[in-house]
Amino acid sequence: MSDDAEARARFADYYAAPRVPWDIGRPQPAFVAAGDRIAGRVLDVGCGTGDLAVWLAARGSIVTGVDFLPGPLAAARSKAAAAGLAVTFLEMDALAVGEIPERFDAVVDCGLFHTFDDAQRSAYVSALARLLEPGARVFLLCMSHAEPGTHGPRRMSAEDIRAAFASGWVVESVDPARFEVVPGVPGAEFSPGGARAWFATVRRT
Ligand SMILES: C[S@@+](CC[C@H](N)C(=O)[O-])C[C@H]1O[C@@H](n2cnc3c(N)ncnc32)[C@H](O)[C@@H]1O
Repeated sequence: MSDDAEARARFADYYAAPRVPWDIGRPQPAFVAAGDRIAGRVLDVGCGTGDLAVWLAARGSIVTGVDFLPGPLAAARSKAAAAGLAVTFLEMDALAVGEIPERFDAVVDCGLFHTFDDAQRSAYVSALARLLEPGARVFLLCMSHAEPGTHGPRRMSAEDIRAAFASGWVVESVDPARFEVVPGVPGAEFSPGGARAWFATVRRT
């Protein structure tokens, strides 16, 4: 199985379960706190079932969500329709987002970046660079080394984030944050109050 097929199968298994650890039914609090800074044409990469994309659209952004799985995208489209909001959802690989012809004012990444290995991380940042003109920003929530254990996604340091965006970007902030999770999912028990995370803001130069 290719890396890509393996990742799809792994995420499809997660979504087939009755409870999905990260799918809390609302945007992560770190994005809500940053909401006033996220506006205009927004791309949500790895959008899952669309709570953040729909929330941003309700606040007036023009939102495109991307995920490589049709199941969560169908749920995302239903949420947007129920809210009476026009959100574009595309089934595609995140490493191919550089092929999207539009340009964006912001990219939001809630829990995708930390799923990539080093080579994929580099390819992803290059793809984002093609989508964002100078001044546009990436807002990123990823798992921190401060979270104990090894279960769940790959942990990242603030230095990992700075290194990934070393060229062509300014890392404006990397702040401790939390990833809220659905409680009681076996194998997805994290720190009380949510898995320790980083919330990063990165500007295209
Ligand atoms: C941890 S989940 C987060 C979902 C959503 N952002 C949220 O906060 O609920 C990661 C999401 O990225 C998607 N994903 C993982 N790898 C991907 C890839 N290479 N291309 C597109 N989507 C991907 C998964 O299907 C999943 O929906």
